[in-house]
Amino acid sequence: MANSLFRTKKIENIIADGSDDPHGGGGLKRVLSVRDLTFFGIAAILGAGSFSSLGGAVFNGGPGVVVLFIITAIACAFTAFCYSEFASRIPVAGSAYTYAYASFGELFAWIIGWALIMEYSIGNIYVAYSWSDYFTSFLSKLNVHIPEYLSTSYMEAKNTILDGGTNPDDIAAWNNAPMIGGLRIIFDLPALVINLLITYLVYRGIKESRNFSNVMVILKLAVVLLIILVGGYLVFSNGLTFNWAPANDEGVKSFMPNGFSGVMTAVAGVFFAYIGFDAVSVLAEESKNPQRDLPKGMVLSLVICTIIYILLTLVLSGAVHYKNFDGVGDPLAFIFEPQNLNIGWMQFLVSICAVVAMTSVLLVFQMGQPRIWMSMSRDGLLPPVFQKIHAKFKTPSFATIVTGLVVGVPILFTDKTFVLDFTSIATLFAFVLVCGGVLLIPRKEKVAGRFHLPYINGQFIFPLIVIGAIVLAQFLSKNYFAELFNFDYSANEDYKTGKASFMQLATPNISLIVFWISAIILAIMAFVKKYSLIPLMGLITCMYLLTGMTAMNWAWFIAWLVLGLIVYFIYGYKKSKLAEKS
Ligand code: ALA
Repeated sequence: MANSLFRTKKIENIIADGSDDPHGGGGLKRVLSVRDLTFFGIAAILGAGSFSSLGGAVFNGGPGVVVLFIITAIACAFTAFCYSEFASRIPVAGSAYTYAYASFGELFAWIIGWALIMEYSIGNIYVAYSWSDYFTSFLSKLNVHIPEYLSTSYMEAKNTILDGGTNPDDIAAWNNAPMIGGLRIIFDLPALVINLLITYLVYRGIKESRNFSNVMVILKLAVVLLIILVGGYLVFSNGLTFNWAPANDEGVKSFMPNGFSGVMTAVAGVFFAYIGFDAVSVLAEESKNPQRDLPKGMVLSLVICTIIYILLTLVLSGAVHYKNFDGVGDPLAFIFEPQNLNIGWMQFLVSICAVVAMTSVLLVFQMGQPRIWMSMSRDGLLPPVFQKIHAKFKTPSFATIVTGLVVGVPILFTDKTFVLDFTSIATLFAFVLVCGGVLLIPRKEKVAGRFHLPYINGQFIFPLIVIGAIVLAQFLSKNYFAELFNFDYSANEDYKTGKASFMQLATPNISLIVFWISAIILAIMAFVKKYSLIPLMGLITCMYLLTGMTAMNWAWFIAWLVLGLIVYFIYGYKKSKLAEKS
């Protein structure tokens, strides 16, 4: 049993399945070039993260959130290299799932495939909600008003009422909603409609989707650039640069008004903004030269978006005091409102652009999910119907419809915060496994024209980096390690009033303790096994980002994994193609 759980799929077999299977690689059209893949990357990356969750991130961390964007970019860049290494060795659809199958074995592959549902489908719920926020605000500028109960999620309205919140839209949705049998009818109609339209477009085919996507990417890049130029100019010309060192509640002025821990509470939002570069890898079977083009597309899109995020964060936090972003769902339009920079036409333009930007994100993820399921179905871990290709449109038709349902149905009973956290933790987890996977696969000879992850011996460098980080942490905060082990929360106000449990308060400490212990173990292993530095750095930086997750995030994520294991043992374990062979 133990062996069969970790049965690995040989890389030769994965490639053969991807290219020969009449329902798989042979069925999909190879039409995508480097430019298309880069555009796809940008289409997936630049969306709700910058247009929506950036506001919350700046509110938590102040201008210093820029540091978190840089740390996250570094983590994603290392991970992108690991994805590229895998993608160049295994140029078939399936993303991290396929890679784990070749390195860690079937059980981990299944777990990653299961976690990726969070990234692709649940992530799209957040984007759909954000799309709806901007769409309704755009309509309201045209004096078209959708009732709040048809443009708010049920949970958001309910939570506002329960927590005594002040958001006027949520309160109006709750108070004005029609009732059926005691149940208030509140749901986000625009989010549902956009999901339906996107599902249809993806069902119709890759080429049509690609053309649509490229136009949207050009448009959103142009407008984001305009926001940076106009906003940046006004920050300087209006003399607002003092906002980059704002005063916190105690009156202390700092680039990080809530300290580094304040910055770290923004992890889920910031990380969400980067999710998407990995989606490029699921298009392996539709790209003309995957081994050469996938890595280029991934890294290029990541670099472009990182530069954009840093500039956007500086413009945002310069234009408006960080505390004013509390509860702001459309921060890029907000900075141009009359009480802020006061440019009406920019508000309008940003709203249109946000709708376009988020449409392209939805499109890419909605295309990615069915392709992952298709790979899992080929391996026997999901029923055969998931690899069914539409005779005319050449798309995985059944899997596309199921994706539409997996995104659409939860829109009725989740809210933005929940799906944002859930998506980020699961995706980070998948990234950790991809970087770890690269450490496990054997090194290979360089082949001309293919991406090749440079081998830098981590034997001495990595342990030195870990020791350096420990010294630095202790140097920057004198009692850093002593405080980490201090579990005395009895004096905490939230703990005393029952608002926060011991576990909630202790989670940051526990995560950091686990992180430092893992770092030391990895340093020892790197020393002994001469591990490659790039995947090591990817692994450790992604693990560090995971320390920003809350107890609630972990609880939900672990529950999701347990559910996945149950499904695996009921179906995939028995039906796996590898089970048939053994
Ligand atoms: N990175 C993507 C976005 O921000 C998921 O919408």
